[in-house]
Amino acid sequence: MIKRTVYQRQLLRFGRLLYYSTNSSFKTAVEAAEKLITPTQPKFSDPFSIVSHEMSHLAKSIANLIGSGHPTLNRVSSYYFEAEGKNVRPLIVLILSKALSKIPVEQRQRIPIDDIDVTEQEHIKGTPRLGSESIAGNSVDDSLSPLRILHGINPRIILDPLSKPMDQLPKMDKLNGILPKQRRLAEIVEMIHTASLLHDDVIDLSDSRRGRPSGNIAFTNKMAVLAGDFLLGRASVAIARLRNPEVIELLSTTIANLVEGEFMQLKNTVLSNREDDGIINNDGDRKKMPDPTGKVPTRRHEYSVTEQEIVDHETNVQASFEYYLHKTYLKTASLMSKSCRAAAVLSGAQDDIIENCYQFGRNLGLCFQIVDDVLDYTSSESSFGKPSQADLKLGLATAPILFAWKQDPALGDLIARKFKEPGDVEIAREAVDKYQGLEQTREMAARYCLDALENLRQLPESDARSALELLTNSVLTRSK
Ligand code: FPP
Ligand code: MG
Repeated sequence: MIKRTVYQRQLLRFGRLLYYSTNSSFKTAVEAAEKLITPTQPKFSDPFSIVSHEMSHLAKSIANLIGSGHPTLNRVSSYYFEAEGKNVRPLIVLILSKALSKIPVEQRQRIPIDDIDVTEQEHIKGTPRLGSESIAGNSVDDSLSPLRILHGINPRIILDPLSKPMDQLPKMDKLNGILPKQRRLAEIVEMIHTASLLHDDVIDLSDSRRGRPSGNIAFTNKMAVLAGDFLLGRASVAIARLRNPEVIELLSTTIANLVEGEFMQLKNTVLSNREDDGIINNDGDRKKMPDPTGKVPTRRHEYSVTEQEIVDHETNVQASFEYYLHKTYLKTASLMSKSCRAAAVLSGAQDDIIENCYQFGRNLGLCFQIVDDVLDYTSSESSFGKPSQADLKLGLATAPILFAWKQDPALGDLIARKFKEPGDVEIAREAVDKYQGLEQTREMAARYCLDALENLRQLPESDARSALELLTNSVLTRSK
C-alpha cells in the first residue's frame, strides 16, 4: 500500500474535487479547458507529488520565520498555520518554479541565477554575527543589517529567529530545480495571505475558519490584528533578504493591493454610498467610544462618493462589473499573479516568459475568486466552511447578482442598500436563480481558466506543467 503524508493526501483531495455543473455551456467550457491540457499524460499518479518534499517543509520553515520572544504572540501568529489550509498559493509558486527550471539555463540569464544553497554558507546556526557590521552574503537566511540593529533594544539576547537557516535540502533538491529563493518566496506568499486572513476575519466578523474558531474569536480582535501585522513584518524582512529589487517591489505591492481590494469591497459597488458599519467591538469588553472632547473635529470622513451621476442602466451595470473585477484582482489575483511573476524573475527567465507567468497567475487568481463567489451561493456551511450566501448577508454584490441585475434593473436598489431590508437577501437569491446568475458566473470563471491554460502552453512541456494544468482545472471545478 502506498503510504502518503497528510500533505500528499490533502493535495490529492484538492485535485480530485471535481465539480461538474449541469449547465451545458459551462460543461462545454470545462471540456474545452480539459482538451487544452497537453496530451502527454504525466508519468505520475499524483501530479503534486513533484513538490511534496518542499510542501512538507513549508509549515516548519514558516515556523522558523515567525518565532518571537513572546509566547502569546507566537500562539496567535501560528494559529492559522496549525490547521490544514489549501496552501494553493505556495503550491502554485513551487510547481511553477519547477516548470520554469525546464527552460534551458542559456535562455534564463536575465539575472545571474542565484542558486546558492544555504547549507553552503559559512556562518549558519550557532554563530550569529551579533554586532558584526560586515555585509551579508547572498543566502535567504543572511541578514542585510547587523543583527544588533535588528534586535533593537536588547542586543545581548542571542535570539535570531530570522536567521535560522532553511531546513537542510537534500542534494537531489538541486536537481529538482527549485531555487532556495523560490522556496522562500512560497513561504512569504503564504505568510502574507495568512496575515490578510487574520485581518479579514476581524473585518467580516467571522467566527470560524478552517474548522476552528477564527483568530478574532479565539484571541480577540486586537490580538488577531496585531498577529497579522507581525506576520507582515516578518514577511517583509524575508522579502528584503531575497535581495532582488524587482521581487521586493512586486511583493510589497501585493500587500498594498490586498488592502486596496478590501477597501473597494467595503465600499462594495459604484452604487453604494457610505458604509454605516458603526464600530463593533467583539473583544468582550464592550468598551464605549469616549465622548468627544470638542478639541478636534470628530465627524467621520465621508467616502468620496458624492451624488451618483445619473447614467443609463447598461453603463451602470458595466461599471459595476469593472469595479467587481478590479476588486477581485486586487483582493485575490494580485498575490497569485505577482508571486508567479516573482518566481519567474528569480528563475532568470526572459521578459516574455515573466509576463506570461504573470498573466497565468492573474487568470488563475480571477478564476479562483469568481468560483469562490459561486460557491458562496451553492455550498452548504458544512462543505464550504462558512454560511451559504454569506456575501449577500455581508452586503456584497458579486458576479451572480450583478448578472441578475443586468436583466432586472429593480435589483439596483437592493444592491445600493446592501440587502439590508428584511427579505432583500431572499429576493436577491431568487433573482440569481431566475436569471441564471450562477451559470453566467461559471462561464466567466471558465474563460479565465482557459486563458490560464493557454498561458501555461507557453512553458516547455514537463510534468510540472501538467501538474499546473491539473491544478488550474481543479480551481474551476472545485466544490470547496
Ligand atoms: C478573504 O476574503 C480575504 C482576502 C482574500 C484579503 C483580505 C485583505 C485584507 C483584510 C487587507 C489587509 C491585508 C493584509 C496583507 C494584512 P473573503 O472574506 O471573501 O474570504 P473568506 O470567506 O475566506 O473570509
Ligand atoms: Mg472573510
